[in-house]
Amino acid sequence: MARATASPKDSSWKITEEYHIDEDVGFALPNPQEELPAEYNAWMAIAENLPALIETGQLRAEVEKLPLLSIDDLQGHKLQRLARLVLGYITMAYVWNQRDGDVSKILPRNIAIPYCKLSEKLGLPPILLYADCVLANWKKKDPNGPMTYENMDILFSFPGGDCGKGFFLVSLLVEIAAASAIKVIPIIFSAVQHQDQDTLQQALLDVAASLKKALEVFHQIHEHVDPELFFNVLRIYLSGWKGNPQLSEGLLYEGVWDSPRKFAGGSAAQSSIFQCFDVLLGIQQSTGGESAAEFLQEMRTYMPPAHRDFLRSVESGPSVREFVLGKGDADLQEAYDACVKALVSLRNYHLQIVTKYIVIPAHRKAEENNKSEEPSGLENKGTGGTDLMNFLKTVRNTTEKSLLKEG
Ligand code: HEM
Repeated sequence: MARATASPKDSSWKITEEYHIDEDVGFALPNPQEELPAEYNAWMAIAENLPALIETGQLRAEVEKLPLLSIDDLQGHKLQRLARLVLGYITMAYVWNQRDGDVSKILPRNIAIPYCKLSEKLGLPPILLYADCVLANWKKKDPNGPMTYENMDILFSFPGGDCGKGFFLVSLLVEIAAASAIKVIPIIFSAVQHQDQDTLQQALLDVAASLKKALEVFHQIHEHVDPELFFNVLRIYLSGWKGNPQLSEGLLYEGVWDSPRKFAGGSAAQSSIFQCFDVLLGIQQSTGGESAAEFLQEMRTYMPPAHRDFLRSVESGPSVREFVLGKGDADLQEAYDACVKALVSLRNYHLQIVTKYIVIPAHRKAEENNKSEEPSGLENKGTGGTDLMNFLKTVRNTTEKSLLKEG
C-alpha cells in the first residue's frame, strides 16, 4: 500500500491509499464484499435471518449453538469488514433481542472471541459502528446502474421493516454526496501554500457545492424512515453499553475480558465527514465547551484508524482560515463563508431530523406511559449516549460563530 507523502504542509501532499478514502464514495467502503467463505456459513445464516429469528424468539439459542470459529481465514480488508458487520449485527441482536427489557449482560464466548480478535485487528471497538452498518453495509442492485436509493440495498437488516434500510442508505448517500469535497482538500492546501487566491476561492466554492448537495440528499430521510419505527425499534438495536442505564456496568465479552466493557452505540456522529470539514475550515469545536469537544474526540476512536489518521493529517495542514482572514479579500471570504454556511445548514437540518425522529417520539412514548415528567434516560439520549439537543445545538452554534461575516 502506498505511503503518505509526509504532511499536508508539503505542497505535493496527496490523499494516498493508506487513508482508505475512495475517489467516488469517500469514507464509505467501495463495493463491499457480500459473501464470507463457506466455513463461516453459520454466522451468515443468523445474520441473514435476524428479524425472523428475533421475532420468533430463537435468536439467542441459535447464537449459543454457534461453533467457536477462528478468524484466520478472513484475509483482506473487505472480508474482515464484512465479518465485522455480520458479528456486529449478531451481537446487537443478542444483547437487545426482542426490545422488551430482557437485556443480555453477557456476550457468549463463541461470538465474543472472534468478534474481539477481528475488532482488534481492524483497530475498532467490538460493537456495531457507523463504519459497519452504513459504510460497509451496501450494494448496488444493478452493478452498472447509478448510486441512487432505488438502485441500492443494505446487506443485513434488523427488525423494523425498511426503516434500517432507509436510515443506513440515506446516511450513506449523504456521505457519498459530500465525498467529492474530500478530493478538493489537497487543492486547497496547495493553493494556500502557493498563495493562489483564485484557485483557493474556486476550490472552496466546490466544497460548498458538495456540502449543499449532501443537504439535498438528506431530505430523502422523510421518504424512507418512519419516526416511530426508528425510535421504538431501530434505535434500540443501535444502542450501546456506555452511559446506558440498561447496561450500566457495560457488556461482559465472555472469554475475552474478566470484567464488562463499555462502548457507545452506532451513530452518524461516528461519521468522519462533518469533522473533516470542521478541521479543514478551522472550526474549533473545542470552543463549544469541554463535553461537546470530548464527545467528538471520543467518536474518532469509533472511526476506522485510517480515517482518524486522515483527520489528524488535515489538522496538521496549513490554516485555511488564517490565510483567508489575512488576505482580507471579500470574494475569498465569501467563498470560505459559503462552506461554513453549508455546514450550518446541514447541522440545522439535522437538528430538525433529531426532533422528528427522537424528541417527538420520546415525548409521545412518555405520554402513553402516563408520565407527566419530561422523558429522561435513554429516551432523551442519542444512540451514542449524549444529552443530544444541547450537544447538537452547541456544535451548530460553534459552527455558526466561525462565519467571517455575520448573517
Ligand atoms: C434519522 C436520522 C438521524 C438521527 C435520528 C440522528 C441522531 C443523532 C444524534 C442523537 C446525535 C447525537 C450523538 C449521539 O448521541 O449519537 C447525532 C449526531 C450526529 N449526527 Fe445524526 N442522526 C441522523 C442522521 C444523520 C445523518 C444522515 C448524518 C450524516 C451523515 C448525521 C450526522 C451526525 C453527526 C456528524 C453528528 C455529530 C454532531 C455534529 O457533528 O454535528 N446524522 N445524530
